[in-house]
Amino acid sequence: MRPILWALALAPFTLAVKHEDFKTCAQSSFCRRLKGIAKRQAESTSTFTSPYSVSPPTISDDEGRYTFPITSSLYPEIRFELRVDVLAEGNGIVRLRMDEVASSTGLRRYNETARWALVEAEPMLAGAGDSSVRTEKGKTVIRYGPKEAKLELEIQHSPFKITQSREGRAQVVINEKSLFHMEHFRKKKEKVEAVVGEAEQMVLGGDGVDRAWFEEEDDEAFEERFRQWTDSKPKGPEALSVDITFPGVEHIYGLPEHASPLSLPDTVGPHAHYSDPYRLYNVDIFEYLADSPMALYGAIPLLHAHSASHSVGILNLVGSDTFVDVEHTHTGVHTHWMSESGILDLLLLPGPRPSELFKQNAILTGTTALPPQWSTAYHQCRWNYVDETDVMDVQRRFDEVDIPLDVTWLDIEHAEEHRYFDWDAKHFPDPVRMQEAVAAKGRKMVAIIDPHIKKVDSFRIYSDAKDLDILVKKADGSNFEGWCWTGSSVWVDFFNPNSWDWWTRMFSFATWKDSTPSLFIWNDMNEPSVFDGPEISVPRDTIHHGGWENRDVHNINGMLFHNQTTQALIQRESPAQRPFVLSRSFFAGSQRFSAIWTGDNMGTWDHFAGETAMLLSNNIAGMSFSGADIGGFFGNPSPELLVRWYQAGAFMPFMRAHAHLDTKRREPYLYPEPTRGLIRDAVRTRYALLGVWYNAFHDASTQGWPIMRPQYVVFPEDKDGFAVDDQYYVGGEGLLVKPVTREGATTTEVYIADDQPYYDYFTHSLHPAQATPHNLTLSTPLSAYPVLIQGGSILPIRQRIRRSSPLMWQDPYTLIIALSKSGEAEGQLYSDDGTGYGYEGGEYVWRRFSLSLSAKGKGKKGGKGRMLRSERHPDSMEKEKERNGWAEKVGHVGVEQVVVLGLEEEPRDVKGARGERVEWKWEAGAAAGASGKGEEERASRLVLKKPGVGIVGDWQIEIS
Ligand code: GLC
Repeated sequence: MRPILWALALAPFTLAVKHEDFKTCAQSSFCRRLKGIAKRQAESTSTFTSPYSVSPPTISDDEGRYTFPITSSLYPEIRFELRVDVLAEGNGIVRLRMDEVASSTGLRRYNETARWALVEAEPMLAGAGDSSVRTEKGKTVIRYGPKEAKLELEIQHSPFKITQSREGRAQVVINEKSLFHMEHFRKKKEKVEAVVGEAEQMVLGGDGVDRAWFEEEDDEAFEERFRQWTDSKPKGPEALSVDITFPGVEHIYGLPEHASPLSLPDTVGPHAHYSDPYRLYNVDIFEYLADSPMALYGAIPLLHAHSASHSVGILNLVGSDTFVDVEHTHTGVHTHWMSESGILDLLLLPGPRPSELFKQNAILTGTTALPPQWSTAYHQCRWNYVDETDVMDVQRRFDEVDIPLDVTWLDIEHAEEHRYFDWDAKHFPDPVRMQEAVAAKGRKMVAIIDPHIKKVDSFRIYSDAKDLDILVKKADGSNFEGWCWTGSSVWVDFFNPNSWDWWTRMFSFATWKDSTPSLFIWNDMNEPSVFDGPEISVPRDTIHHGGWENRDVHNINGMLFHNQTTQALIQRESPAQRPFVLSRSFFAGSQRFSAIWTGDNMGTWDHFAGETAMLLSNNIAGMSFSGADIGGFFGNPSPELLVRWYQAGAFMPFMRAHAHLDTKRREPYLYPEPTRGLIRDAVRTRYALLGVWYNAFHDASTQGWPIMRPQYVVFPEDKDGFAVDDQYYVGGEGLLVKPVTREGATTTEVYIADDQPYYDYFTHSLHPAQATPHNLTLSTPLSAYPVLIQGGSILPIRQRIRRSSPLMWQDPYTLIIALSKSGEAEGQLYSDDGTGYGYEGGEYVWRRFSLSLSAKGKGKKGGKGRMLRSERHPDSMEKEKERNGWAEKVGHVGVEQVVVLGLEEEPRDVKGARGERVEWKWEAGAAAGASGKGEEERASRLVLKKPGVGIVGDWQIEIS
């Protein structure tokens, strides 16, 4: 079905996207060519084999590196090389790089993606003896990784095929379908001819496949037209096709950013859900579809392949336009990657479980930077808050209705003629006064700085960048010009190192006199968006530093912009403060610098419903600090939709409301009750749980764990959960969330995979443990939405909510203890000053809380003795300073209440940390160990009042 018809069938209300602005695979010459191979292969009656073959490796001086010469029988004179690196870290990560060697054309394929995406462009190789190689009977086998894993990479020489296996089971197969093809550089006259000599006819045997069969005639290989644009393609064809099969798995996840289910549906074959491949090409797409493989603003070429028995991952470091076909079969999942340019630089992440995949990706591309804590609170944005009075009004009116707010945002209209850095003096006469007034309430501001620069000599950013000669160039060497919000514009080439210091200087308080330490930055339109360019972006033959075309670096480009803004914010203060930058475009590695959001969504139920899967996909690909515009960017959501969106937004890592210029104002205070109150409840819930969110951010920043965790991540063996993408766990905190995304829903089903009791976060009612996975049907009138505490968890929450999060720093905590079916629980609290880098030197407090059966209690019938402990988090031991400034500062912050849910009976005594008797209140109810009849019951509640303990230092409370 043509995409447009398909879209009609699925999403009749979201047909606004302009399909004609964006290329399909069939409209891209490289994708046509590469997909042609797959089509002919699928249609051919007998099996055909790959023309590529490798020779045994030469082992270089570096241990852990093996280099294989490769040739193609189609072009015996062209030499390719495959390099296999076994990496030191990550329990068996292998890197496969392939390139054409010394082309007679003198042209080179782009090989620097790793430099931008990876923490280290050349990760350390495994040492001597950590891998071994053996060549025999037409294949080379490399053994590597931890002994017990028995990891092997088998490189079949002819036809070329690579199989990665664990304990003898194949897990990743490259070129199984013989679709591997690296177009070599050629001069135009060498263009593939349809008729080739007899000698070449049979080079592939089987089908009698010839060059023409493999490389179809393509008039657009050297110059390509799309609508009114002509792409000059100075290097000619240089596409790369790779088929990667994951045997024995039923699901693959990843490849953000797409508005598609988390478990990626097929794009080819009998069960194709989409008619075009998933596309990775960062673009500004107007009114995107709610269910589509079309390209969006960001691209992370990472996949997880998952089954109940194993998980593997791949990270394909390619920054050019890339289409990926997916097909599930009964033996596994096939993927076919078609990229316009670049070398093959493929990392195989061995797993074997999702938890290891996150660590492995973090070793390569880094972790989410620990954000300033206030940025995990609520953000209020709109295009636009029109002037200083409007900004101050927003502050006041949030306060009046008692809705907390941390950050107020300014969109493009705050800048004179959209010349970012220059405030519109009429509406913002004294930006410093305004920022300081906002800061006085403990709040921050974010202003937008887009990458298009107004091309007028009187604008210092333009004249500086022009003088420094750091602008993106046209193929003819002149500065590229295009159209964006600001009219005729130019773009800084952030691949040019000369731009870096200059950009940093633009953010120094000395240069940007209208900025203060409480002003942070939003980098939008950085795909980049060019209104009069092909696919609303820069032409592919635009030139970046080093002579590379935008074609080669397109998907990486946006990341360099937000990275440099991040560096600039870090450097503007001494000692440095943590930056906050929101970016729209992103690539693998962006998590080290910024937060992102899902761009211009629509205020409709279908868009809202799709956001969870999109955010989950970002999260598993490393980009945890993500959110979606609450309420939807376009349109006017009904009060019901807005309430549901706030309830969902309160559980997105990045929580911001935003709206288009043409929408009705929709700040929460504008609504009558009950809407306003319901929104207030949702925002205040976020603030109550900020400690829990910070725990999750901390885990993400240290270990690469996603903040939003889908079922397959938390329960990797539970098949029934593998396709579930409308509910998730918050970090490792034991909170299960399911946004209510159906209009008028009065009940909502939540899938429970484990045999623990679950407790309603809001009402403390208990859903007893059940032995097998099951659905709970929860009542969800507009005031309710499923947030469940998994039995066995301890949540540090705050009950006093203030105007903004920094004002809450010394408020006491409440520990909510939800007992597991065996009557125990544990949790954590990580805290630091929330803004600086002192934590890197051990200035933080990281506690582990546990409630366990005391020796006395074990085995006793009926009432059991228990010990509630706070101790230093075991992972904290080395770094946390014994005496540190933060610990001293919060030495007085207490635990005001401990609430234990699910005890079997009222205790006889509760002894505090100093042996004193602690006051308690007991409400009888169901116990954690109650066997499930599937019915919701009131959980028993033991409330310890003022237990006399704090969040610093060890203590224990005995409940007997
Ligand atoms: C883009 C952004 C949107 C912003 C608008 C004006 O459409 O995605 O969030 O409000 O530009 O700057």
